[in-house]
Amino acid sequence: MSKISVLFVCLGNICRSPTAHAVFQSMVDKQGLTDKIFVDSCGTGDWHIGRAPDPRSQQHALERGYQMDNLRARLVDDNDFNQFDYILAMDKQNLANLKSMNCQVYTGQLGLFLDFCRNSNYADYSEVPDPYYGGDQGFSLVLNLIEDASTELLRQIVERL
Ligand code: 4NP
Repeated sequence: MSKISVLFVCLGNICRSPTAHAVFQSMVDKQGLTDKIFVDSCGTGDWHIGRAPDPRSQQHALERGYQMDNLRARLVDDNDFNQFDYILAMDKQNLANLKSMNCQVYTGQLGLFLDFCRNSNYADYSEVPDPYYGGDQGFSLVLNLIEDASTELLRQIVERL
């Protein structure tokens, strides 16, 4: 049986999407679904290819028990549209970048990750704000939003398994 696969996409693949990757992977592992769900992340920009996640993202994630030092940034690829059941962008600009790629025949779910948010505290957020040029609060907010959306995404995927 093939796995259900999820790709998280941001701009640099060093802050938001690797955080989503690590958080969602942790939830998948904790539910014993490692063999059934494949998780990956990438960026639409090429500046940080091959780099580990931003140290600030790593530190904030680690404080909540998520390890992400094994991840390395990569660029989105046309072939991702053949590989992934879900391609979830952190913001509208990255979603537009993805839609401008060769995905006319994409049969999976391409959309905004925060469409899966269910916590009313975050109802005002349709995008995960880019924390790169900001302070600690931004990284903490990224984690709050990602934990919430990941919980619902996993619930919906489990229904399909
Ligand atoms: P990310 O954050 O898209 O969440 O990885 C950024 C990282 C780097 C840059 C922009 C956003 N940058 O301009 O280098």
